[in-house]
Parts: sequence; structure tokens; C-alpha cells
Amino acid sequence: MTMIDKIKEHIEEAKAFNTKNKEALENFRIKYLGSKGLLKELFTEFKNIPNDQKKDFGQVINTLKTVTEEKVKSIQEELESKEEVKGVYGDLTRPSEPITIGSRHPISLVKNQIIDIFSTIGFNVSEGPEIEDDWHNFTALNLPEYHPARDMQDTFFIAEHVLRTHTSSVQIREMEKGKLPLRLVMPGRVYRNEAVSARSNCFFHQIEGLYIDKGVSFADLKQTLYYFVQQFFGEGTKVRFRSSYFPFTEPSAEMDIWAGLETEENRRLTKGTGWLEVLGCGMVHPNVLEACNINSSEYTGFAFGMGIDRITMLKYGINDIRDLFVNDKRLLSQFSGV
Ligand code: PHE
Repeated sequence: MTMIDKIKEHIEEAKAFNTKNKEALENFRIKYLGSKGLLKELFTEFKNIPNDQKKDFGQVINTLKTVTEEKVKSIQEELESKEEVKGVYGDLTRPSEPITIGSRHPISLVKNQIIDIFSTIGFNVSEGPEIEDDWHNFTALNLPEYHPARDMQDTFFIAEHVLRTHTSSVQIREMEKGKLPLRLVMPGRVYRNEAVSARSNCFFHQIEGLYIDKGVSFADLKQTLYYFVQQFFGEGTKVRFRSSYFPFTEPSAEMDIWAGLETEENRRLTKGTGWLEVLGCGMVHPNVLEACNINSSEYTGFAFGMGIDRITMLKYGINDIRDLFVNDKRLLSQFSGV
């Protein structure tokens, strides 16, 4: 084999060379281009080549030089670009961070449980706006202007409108639609201008109930709520109705459930009575029916409204209502899978 053939073999070998390894690349560079490398050797040799062969010999040496130089450069660039990616994104082959799946808010859980129970006895769901007019929040509910009972609920005003103080406004919106009978639960957020504390917040959630038909009586009201309590708080839960006052119902009542006096917690929550107030209710006042163009000598109905937040706190042992609204993941994550 001639010297030239040998160099041509080196050229082919250099062209075929590839690596992803920095060290192997460096060895390749040293082998050909290093200060004691093959090319250095060949250029020294060049001096001893007879003149008539110098042209051919020079050509192959130069080819070997450019091929090896370009090879080192291109592999180096490729390795560096990979390193750059690594710098920005980290190790792309690493397994990803696990994605934690969210959970429903406890208020939504309880709201849905309440809706489920009432849906088994034929109640549909409806919702109304949080920004209300005076008519739906007060006047149509038998609370005309200057009625002293308007002070029962401290109101936030927005120009000519109010932030609804209760979900009873949705009763009016539904009755005004003029389609009877009505059997509905109406959940939603309500607002009151009250000092914020562990027990009360300036906004909270209610679920309203309404049943309007011919011949609906107070007995229907009691039995419906009794059924609900047995389903929600457990079979055998005792209830009592205390007479009360709401402008939009007559007669009116508040319903309590028996929590007992056994534990310190129960004595504290029930203020030593053993009874927990759960909701307000009553027979829809004839003035309210008439305000919605319903003939009150033909139709009667009952309504009730309960605080979802309070029931949620009772159910899950949450002591501060404000904890429900800070969205602390440590609290919320406890409800995944509930
Ligand atoms: N709207 C009343 C409240 O917020 C509750 C209620 C609703 C009472 C329906 C009677 C009938 O306190």
C-alpha cells in the first residue's frame, strides 16, 4: 500500500467518525490534529517526498486536514447545543413531577348532597342573580320601603341595586314566571354587611326551598324537612320547630336539630341547650303570592332557607367560617375523594 493510499484510508475513517462523547472527540482531535498528531507527522514527512510526488501528496494531506478539522467542529457544536437545552430545561429524561388532582370545595360537596336529597322527592334546581333589585330582594317579599324588618339583614348597596341578602329573591323570580306548581331548591351566595368573625362572614351560602301548589300545608313543610334531616344528619335525628317571624312567611318557624349535650363541643355549639338552629321556614305569605300574580285563595306553598356554610362547619368540624374562604390547600386537599 502506498503512503497516499494509507492517507486516503484515514480520510474515509475520519469522515465516518461520530460520537456523543466529549472525551472520544478529544482523543480524535489529538490523534489527527494534536501537536504530536498524524498531520504534524505527515507535514514533517512532506519535506522528504520527491518533487514529482509533492503535488498528489500535498493534496491528500490537505484533504485529511480539512476533513478532520470540520469533523471536530461540527461534533463540538452539536454537543454544545445539547448542553444548552439541558441548561434551560434540566434533564429532559427525568420523570415529571406528579400532578395532584384537585377536589371539590366542602361547601360545594354539602350543597350537592342537599340538592341530591331534595331531588329524590321531586325538587328541581334553580339559580338567580347575586346583584338584585329592591323588588326581588325586599318589596315583593312583603318588605315594603320603611318596613322595620329590612334592618334584620344589613345590606350592601350598589347604586340602585343590592347584593342579595338571601336566596329568597330567587323565590320571587321563579313565581313571577307564572308556571305552577313549583317545587325547587335554589342554592347561591348571599351578602350581608356584618362584622367578620369566626361565626359570621360578609358573604356566605344559602339554599332556598319552595313548594307551591293547590293544598300545600304546614304538615307538608314539616314532613319534607323531617325527611331531609333524616337523610342528611342520619336516621333518628330529632327535630323541633320554634315559632318565629319572617315578613314573607306566615306562620313562620325555625327548625332545630338535636345535637346533644354529651361533649364539651356540643355544649359550646348549642350554647348549653343541646339544640342547633338549622333553618328558617314557613308558609308563603299571601301578599308574596299576590305580588307574583298568584291567586292566594287557590294556591298555597311553603318556603325554607338554610345556611350551607353553617351545616358544612357542623358536618366537618370546621370552627372558623373564614377558613372556608382562604382556599388553603391543606384544608381543601382533605376533601379529595369525599
Ligand atoms: N330568607 C330567610 C333568611 O335569610 C330564611 C327563610 C327563607 C325563612 C324562606 C323563611 C322562608 O334568614
